[in-house]
Amino acid sequence: MLIHTAFSTSLYPKIHNTQKLKTVNSSVSESKTFNDVPFNSQTQNELNHLKKRVKDPLSCSNSICFCCSRRDIMAAVGAAALLPSHPSHASDDSFPTDAMAMLNRFHPPRPDWYAELYATAMNTSMKSYEAEIEGYKSELFANLRGQAKQILEIGIGTGPNLKYYASEGGTSVYGVDPNRKMEKYAQAAAEAAGLPPANFKFLHAVSESLPLRDASVDAVIGTLVLCSVADVNLALQEIRRVLKPGGLYLFVEHVAATDGTVLRFVQQLLDPLQQTLADGCHLTRKTGKDITEAGFSNVDSHQVVLSTASLINPHIIGIAHN
Ligand SMILES: C[S@@+](CC[C@H](N)C(=O)[O-])C[C@H]1O[C@@H](n2cnc3c(N)ncnc32)[C@H](O)[C@@H]1O
Repeated sequence: MLIHTAFSTSLYPKIHNTQKLKTVNSSVSESKTFNDVPFNSQTQNELNHLKKRVKDPLSCSNSICFCCSRRDIMAAVGAAALLPSHPSHASDDSFPTDAMAMLNRFHPPRPDWYAELYATAMNTSMKSYEAEIEGYKSELFANLRGQAKQILEIGIGTGPNLKYYASEGGTSVYGVDPNRKMEKYAQAAAEAAGLPPANFKFLHAVSESLPLRDASVDAVIGTLVLCSVADVNLALQEIRRVLKPGGLYLFVEHVAATDGTVLRFVQQLLDPLQQTLADGCHLTRKTGKDITEAGFSNVDSHQVVLSTASLINPHIIGIAHN
C-alpha cells in the first residue's frame, strides 16, 4: 500500500462502477463465548496436511518505474536497496513442525524498524483511502449484522475494519497478522470500536497456517491482504477450513488491472518495487479468479475503482459462502 500513496496523483479521478452488493441471507450458527475457539490447535497431522498443500509462490517479472520523475525513481530505488526482500516463502526442503516455524516460513521475520515503519505508515497514510471506501465497507459489513459472533480477520493490520462490525454485543474477534507492530494499533481500534478487551485477540500468525480449529468461526474478513500473503491458494483453503458450514468470507482486495491497459503495464513495472516497499504486496495478482476457484459454494463480488487508490486498482468487493 505504500507505493499507492507515492503515486496518488490519481490515474482515476472518480469512483466507477457502483453495482450493488446482493444481501446475503445465509444463516450462521451462533457461538456463545470467545473461548469456544482454541488457539494453537494445529496438530502434527494438520501440519503434514498443510505441507502437502503448499504450492509454489506467485512470482513477478522485473522492471523499473517509468511513470514518475527521475528523482522519485532514484529515491525509491535507493530506499529499496536498503530494505529487506521478501521471498514468497522459504525454499528449504525441511518442513516446519510448529506454528512459529510456519509463521517464519510464510512471512520471514523483517527487521524491527521495517515492521514498525510499515505499521506506522499504514496507520497514518490510509485516511483518505478509508474515507473513500467507507460506503462500500458499510454496505459489505452490514451483512454480518446478527449473523456472526465469532469473527476472524486475516491481515488485520491497524484494524480499520473493526468499527464496522465489532460494536455489536457479544462479538468476539481474532485478528491474525504476522507483523507484531500492528498489534498496538489493532488493539486501540478494537477499543475504539467498543469491543471489550476480552473479546479481541491479536494472533501473531499467517493466513496460510491459521491457529484456529476447523469450522470454528462464523465469518472471516480480509481487506487488502491476499495481495501480500505468500501463498494465496493455501490462505483460501485455510479460510474455508476455519469457517463453519455456511460461514461467510467478506473481502476487499486490489487486483491486476485488465491486461493490455496502461495501468496493467505500470503495475507490472512497479510490482517488484511495491513488494519491497510494501511488505510483500503484489500489484498484479488475479485474486478474484483465485477466490472464485477456491471451492466456496457461492461467490458474489463486484469491481470498483477508487480515486485514492492509484495503482492498486481495481478493487474487488464481495462475499463468499462456505
Ligand atoms: C496492506 S496491509 C492491510 C491491512 C488491513 N487489512 C487494512 O485493510 O488496512 C496488509 C496486511 O497483511 C499482513 N500480512 C502480510 N502477510 C500476511 C500473511 N501471510 N497472512 C496474514 N497477514 C499477512 C501485513 O502484515 C499487513 O498488516
